[in-house]
Amino acid sequence: MRSLLFVPGDSPRKLAKGLESGADALILDLEDSVAADRKPEARTTSLAFLKEVSAEGRRPRLLVRVNSLDTGLTDADLDAVVAGRPDAILLPKAEGGPSVIHLDAKLAAREALAGLPDGAIGIMAIATETAAALFAAGTYAGASPRLSALTWGAEDLSADIGAETNRDADGNFTGPFRLARSLCVAAAAAARVTALDTVYVDFRNADGLRREAEEARRDGFLGKLAIHPGQVAVINEVFTPSPAEIAKAEAVIAAFAAAPGIGVVGIDGMMYDRPHLERAKRLLARARSP
Ligand code: COA
Ligand code: MG
Repeated sequence: MRSLLFVPGDSPRKLAKGLESGADALILDLEDSVAADRKPEARTTSLAFLKEVSAEGRRPRLLVRVNSLDTGLTDADLDAVVAGRPDAILLPKAEGGPSVIHLDAKLAAREALAGLPDGAIGIMAIATETAAALFAAGTYAGASPRLSALTWGAEDLSADIGAETNRDADGNFTGPFRLARSLCVAAAAAARVTALDTVYVDFRNADGLRREAEEARRDGFLGKLAIHPGQVAVINEVFTPSPAEIAKAEAVIAAFAAAPGIGVVGIDGMMYDRPHLERAKRLLARARSP
């Protein structure tokens, strides 16, 4: 999944627009982009959208961002949307493996009630939205087979730690937020799940978005969240493996296949060992199904 577009869950107009955006996934938001008195409306609108779109053959993956576990709203969110069988729930303000285990249990019960197979609905988590979450980033491994990706957030973290800003005058993240970003990519790798980069809120600035997406790809993120349909094309382009990368991955796989039992090969004067082979296989898998 290269691009995941947030859509306020109470806006039928934006939900319809989201479908045409080209995003690999839509995140139907029940949390921060929906005012407190609109939560019931957002649940109803999101369920109707899930039911309508799930039936379509070619569609983006559909996620729902529920309200965090400490709000008391998560159960009502899940009660409303599980029947629409979203592909995954995005959990905000997650604080490590225990939060995921908690959500897993809530989903398992509701899947049974809705007649869905156990594990039908996946989990993705926003891993850096509180200060406490940073210290729990290393605890996601093995929490739940539902967990497929981790992402990170800078806005709520700013509020929690009391930072005046999260970017410097050049638009680059300041120290505490670079730490959160690094912890996200390490936490995801340690848990063997995908790392996804956070949103770029300056949504008319395509150059800034491209720069940030390229830096994310360089550092191991495989996709990026979006808040506006205009951001999707840039994100998809940056996170699509290029023909040169695909050719290189194929060359690495071919070199290992030609020398069974060998742990290391040389191609064009560069050494490649087992981790490179694994990376090459993962890149080709992504190129085949984004
Ligand atoms: N998903 C789907 N459609 C969207 C969209 C989104 N995230 N953001 C904008 N659009 C639509 C608008 O409705 C508009 O369509 P219309 O002309 O048919 O009404 C079109 O795209 C152009 O929008 P634009 O005028 O450029 O932006 P805006 O001022 O209407 O909206 C935001 C700006 C930030 C309010 C809007 O992009 C948004 O709601 N983003 C998502 C916010 C969110 O979910 N945040 C939580 C995660 S951090
Ligand atoms: Mg938030």
